[in-house]
Amino acid sequence: MDRNDLFSQRTVSAEEAVRAIRNGDRVVFSQGAGIPQVVPEALAKHSEEYADIEIFHMLRPGPIDYVAEGMEPHFRHCAAFVSGGAREAVAANRADYMPCFFFEVPHFFRSGLLRVDVAVIQVSPPDADGFCSFGPACDYVQAACDAARVVIAEVNDCMPRIGGDNSIHVSQLDYVVPCSRALPEAPPAVTGRVEEVIGRFCAQLIEDGATLQLGIGAIPDAVLHCLTEKNDLGLHTEMFADGVIDLIERGVINGRRKTLHRGLHVATFLLGSRRLYEFAATCPAVALYPVDYVNDPCVIMKNERMVSINSCLEVDLMGQVNSETIGLRQFSGTGGQVDYVRGASLSRGGKSIMAMPSTAVHGTVSRIVPFLSHGAAVTTSRNDVDYVVTEYGIAHLKAKTLRERARSLIAIAHPSFREGLMEEFERRFGT
Ligand code: COA
Repeated sequence: MDRNDLFSQRTVSAEEAVRAIRNGDRVVFSQGAGIPQVVPEALAKHSEEYADIEIFHMLRPGPIDYVAEGMEPHFRHCAAFVSGGAREAVAANRADYMPCFFFEVPHFFRSGLLRVDVAVIQVSPPDADGFCSFGPACDYVQAACDAARVVIAEVNDCMPRIGGDNSIHVSQLDYVVPCSRALPEAPPAVTGRVEEVIGRFCAQLIEDGATLQLGIGAIPDAVLHCLTEKNDLGLHTEMFADGVIDLIERGVINGRRKTLHRGLHVATFLLGSRRLYEFAATCPAVALYPVDYVNDPCVIMKNERMVSINSCLEVDLMGQVNSETIGLRQFSGTGGQVDYVRGASLSRGGKSIMAMPSTAVHGTVSRIVPFLSHGAAVTTSRNDVDYVVTEYGIAHLKAKTLRERARSLIAIAHPSFREGLMEEFERRFGT
């Protein structure tokens, strides 16, 4: 059967497609800018007809209706990364968080550790050979489709085609739901003087020819602003946002000295503005690959001079890093942070940077703390941590004793918290 026949034979409305979902199913949604739109709306509309559906995904920008109060008998969201729209529901026990390294998620699906009953994805219209692009969200989509009993694909004519190993053939789609919806966008991070200073410190640690991973939040964007004078940088990163466009257009990021995928800007998903999605669709060097490849530390390490730049919420005096919880509340997730910290540490000439403002909550809370908050998770362990940067400087913790770590972390804490931290230092280590 040719691709046009296949396509039209499998085309249904969203309301028809959701009938393939059975009570008790685990439904995996694609994530980020690739999050499905019309099928979840049809599910929510018919919520009364469903019981015990688990909806699994990573990041979902914007509000999430299936975690609202009253949805509990019908849907339960399982988050492998808690989005803003799910935080309150996770805290109130109406949704769950599943700790994991992002690169493992496709293995969970393929091995059956996490059964996938239905995959609901969003793709571009097919090309002449019948291949639909995953657009800006490649990550775990192919693995979810391979493992699923049923694949429901929203075929969105606004979805750009982006390069890499980033497409699926129409023959793998059981239901095709045509739609025309703008992709979700993420507003650019707000950065101020503190982030600018942090960006400058981070830039000191980045040599010409380095390959960068940029994490999520305000800091990575601020770092990018400080890299305009560098040369021959490369990208091998879980995600990137609008901040890289300017550096690629100026030729600062050109991938020329990369030791893996030379010349290509490699990522597993993109999240930013419409400009970013259009840029990625027209830049032949942008290449998206599945997350079990891009985020695998054994792949990351093949990039020499790999530098990972991530942010965190608190660091204790031993160098244990919490990037995802505020006390007992799950704020975000591990994502790919540890994948890159480890990949960078294994890379020849590599380093990992954990950068954060020295305080939070309008200067009332130090992010450098004697002990992590009660209930906090350790995202990056004290054995993995390398550089920690605040607006007061750089602490290099690798191959340093507990005493040396504590001293150098106190030196980059906010001055108004240093005395309290020194008291704890003296209790532990004497004077
Ligand atoms: N105690 C209490 N509250 C704190 C806090 C602390 N120690 N540290 C931060 N907060 C609050 C902030 O005040 C802010 O509150 P607001 O939203 O009311 O202003 C909120 O927590 C978020 O902090 P902020 O530092 O602004 O977050 P960010 O948007 O820059 O993101 C992380 C930082 C760490 C949350 C984000 O990078 C993350 O989720 N990382 C884990 C995953 C990861 O690194 N992935 C990388 C691969 S892409």
